[in-house]
Amino acid sequence: MAKRKKISLIGAGNIGGELANLAAQRELGDIVLFDIPSKADFAKGKALDLAQNGAILGYDVSITGSGDWKDCAGSDVLIITAGIPRKPGESRDDLVGKNLPIIRDVAKNAKEHCPDAFVIVISNPLDVMVYEFQKVSGFDPKKVVGMAGVLDSARFACFLAEAANVSVKDVRPMVLGGHGDDMVPLLSFTTINGVPVTNFVPQDKLDAIIKRTRGGGGEIVKLMGTSAYYAPASASIVMAEAYLKDQKRLLAGAAHLTGQYGYKDMFLGVPVVIGGGGVEKIVELPLTDAEKKMLETSAASVKSVIDVANKL
Ligand code: APR
Repeated sequence: MAKRKKISLIGAGNIGGELANLAAQRELGDIVLFDIPSKADFAKGKALDLAQNGAILGYDVSITGSGDWKDCAGSDVLIITAGIPRKPGESRDDLVGKNLPIIRDVAKNAKEHCPDAFVIVISNPLDVMVYEFQKVSGFDPKKVVGMAGVLDSARFACFLAEAANVSVKDVRPMVLGGHGDDMVPLLSFTTINGVPVTNFVPQDKLDAIIKRTRGGGGEIVKLMGTSAYYAPASASIVMAEAYLKDQKRLLAGAAHLTGQYGYKDMFLGVPVVIGGGGVEKIVELPLTDAEKKMLETSAASVKSVIDVANKL
């Protein structure tokens, strides 16, 4: 009999809870909802609530809460949300000092207890946290990816669908670069089911949509007082499912670059193919000069935060 897959969610907060909910409803595998020892009971309570939810919705997976890394041993997938979310007025980069010690702790434990897992990092500042995770854990870079591009692309698609007055299902968006204010929504690779989006939305509206996409996370933080959790969780589950089911999906993700797009020794949002081998491929797109310039600005801002992190 085939064994069920095991998914450990590191951080049982807002995103962690929604991740558990989605993973359970899709029956991706047994779930461990992990948090620091002082929050272990909270994680256990959330897990119990979700397990009981399975009796109503009818899913067959086990969901347990824990504050002990030993319970995560043998995980096939780790999704990391451990950290402190943004407060109104804070940028993602403002979080680096707070979240760096947390990701280092998580990376050391992941190396010890889950050396074979495929790892998806969500904690912010994303591009630096995923870089630090890989550096400290020593995991194969193909088994480590940061979740940002799927979420940023979803925000872009949502605004475009509204402006073009078409179903969001038909918008094919692509957003590259760092998960920050300099991210690069690629108009040349964004279509409404193959038809260039520029045929539907005038340039001044597109410019406004790009601006809103770049500030899409901050818009929600300002409204709610904390960061988004439904769409970030869905975006990560899509990536986890692509790995667990060897779907070979082409998605935007923060991947380890070794010269692609002219960058190396960093994680940056690029189109990747995710399948059973992890990040199986980085897809290089022919960018326009303007897009190359935007990517350069975004990469420079990621690099500057990596430099800060390397000194902490
Ligand atoms: N190990 C495991 N979990 C930890 C650790 C650690 N070392 N340190 C903190 N945590 C837990 C917290 O106890 C908390 O329960 O991480 C959880 C984070 O949950 P929330 O505060 O609800 O934050 P959330 O909205 O889920 O966002 C988490 O994702 O999008 C990013 O910017 C966001 O960095 C933030 C992260």
